[in-house]
Amino acid sequence: MIKPIIVANWKLYGNKTFVQEFSKYFNLNLKNYLKKNTIIIAPPIIYIEYMKKLINEKNIFFSSQNIDYHNEGAFTGEISSRMLNDIGVKYVILGHSERRKNHFESNKLIAKKFHSVKKNNLIPILCIGETKEEKKLELTEKILKKQIDEIFLKCGKFAFNKTIVAYEPIWAIGSGKTATPNLINKILKMIKKYIIKNSFNNIKLYMQYGGSVSPENIKNIINEKYVDGVLIGSGSLNFKNFKKIIQISSNFNKKKTSS
Ligand code: 13P
Repeated sequence: MIKPIIVANWKLYGNKTFVQEFSKYFNLNLKNYLKKNTIIIAPPIIYIEYMKKLINEKNIFFSSQNIDYHNEGAFTGEISSRMLNDIGVKYVILGHSERRKNHFESNKLIAKKFHSVKKNNLIPILCIGETKEEKKLELTEKILKKQIDEIFLKCGKFAFNKTIVAYEPIWAIGSGKTATPNLINKILKMIKKYIIKNSFNNIKLYMQYGGSVSPENIKNIINEKYVDGVLIGSGSLNFKNFKKIIQISSNFNKKKTSS
């Protein structure tokens, strides 16, 4: 059995006061749920160390929302996987659609970042997804496979071992419209089978859904067979909503799906 993997992607939100309030709320209300969920918080990187001290709990994990693929060098403004490893961060969100769109990140660049994350013994949370137009044109499967193929090309047949892949349809992010649980399951199954077919045997691969996850829809989403967890944006910034999502998912320890 595996615990649901709940990732809170704060994006470019929060400030010192919010971090203090979130941490206080977490300590009072959420620590008990760590036994039943793997909780990973991805605040803006500058708050991670501070939050770690405030929460002071070894069973909560932190994630960066991005990295540069170099370990070090003359790359002003960047942070590296090696530096994250140095401060005890375990996870890195990669290929988020907001970075693909606003920072022109290509599949090739994301594959280089993925490679750096793995080389530094961190765990990638690779986001993949299609636009509304691509969905209308029935290109979803093709687009997702292309996003995956570039990672195989750069990182080889063991690339996806100990990795989280998050299906985040772009049309669902921040829209209040989630994909239906049935569609989420179907697409996660397709992605998982495709990755496993192209990998060496016995990889450990975890699947998430992201896009307008809320206290109202979490139960039906997390209940689906191929959903190992969720990637939450705005729902993770509201303490009470975040707690409700975690409370509900606590009841859904997942059976491992091998393919
Ligand atoms: P929302 O939950 O705000 O739709 O954002 C999803 C997301 O982009 C998580 O990475």
